[in-house]
Amino acid sequence: MNSHSESVLLTQDLTHSYTDNDTAPIINQLNLEVKQGEAVALIGRSGSGKSTLLNILSGLEPIQKGQVSVLGQALVDMNDKARTLLRRKHIGFIYQSFNLIPTLTVADNVTLPLALANVSKAERQRQLEPILDAVGLLSRSADYPDRLSGGEQQRIAIARALIHKPDVILADEPTGNLDATSGRHILSLLQSLISEQQGTLLLVTHSLEVAKMADRIYAMKVGQLNSLDTSQLDGSSAW
Ligand SMILES: Nc1ncnc2c1ncn2[C@@H]1O[C@H](COP(=O)(O)OP(=O)(O)OP(=O)(O)O)[C@@H](O)[C@H]1O
Ligand SMILES: [Mg+2]
Repeated sequence: MNSHSESVLLTQDLTHSYTDNDTAPIINQLNLEVKQGEAVALIGRSGSGKSTLLNILSGLEPIQKGQVSVLGQALVDMNDKARTLLRRKHIGFIYQSFNLIPTLTVADNVTLPLALANVSKAERQRQLEPILDAVGLLSRSADYPDRLSGGEQQRIAIARALIHKPDVILADEPTGNLDATSGRHILSLLQSLISEQQGTLLLVTHSLEVAKMADRIYAMKVGQLNSLDTSQLDGSSAW
């Protein structure tokens, strides 16, 4: 993986439905390709299937129809364990609802990806500080998630998604609970990860201003992706 032409995320004719005999699937023959080093933004109305697509790409939701490859590996060919390992090692998933573990401290939540990769406690501690600092929450390391505001929980979820320097970041509304300044700060953090580590980002957002940080913007509509011309967008509008 050292060339810009590599497909990091690829779907071919992906179709997904939550009900049987669905005549209008939530995702309908969707084709997407994101290459290494690219940032792609996804917008679309509530319920249009954006989170579903991220869940499928991360192997959390099974593939019903079509092809999905992540880092050149076809997900259908992998068993549950292999998909879990791929996700743990290579994907940083920022969940729309954070998914922090309430019984773990901020420090243990953030370093969980490292603990799962058997990184030593001393090394986990060493890597914790810069990422907590980067999201502005260094002082909250010993707190439990329920002591944090929504925006603080979101930033902890972001730190957890980034601490193991994943090749791919799937970010579901990562700035949804943040004020404008913190939001810009988080976006520049994501941006620096892409440029410094040749990472790849797929970002879901309702804000066109946020979406504009991406190389390409797609709007999800009736199960498909429509390319948007960024030069014609008014950055203040929200989706
Ligand atoms: N596990 C599930 N079981 C059944 N239906 C589901 C499930 N997850 C999502 N859906 C339905 O699929 C549709 C797409 O949901 P999804 O969460 O992908 O939308 P979204 O684009 O992320 O919306 P939002 O912008 O509100 O986050 C919705 O109508 C939702 O109710
Ligand atoms: Mg969603």
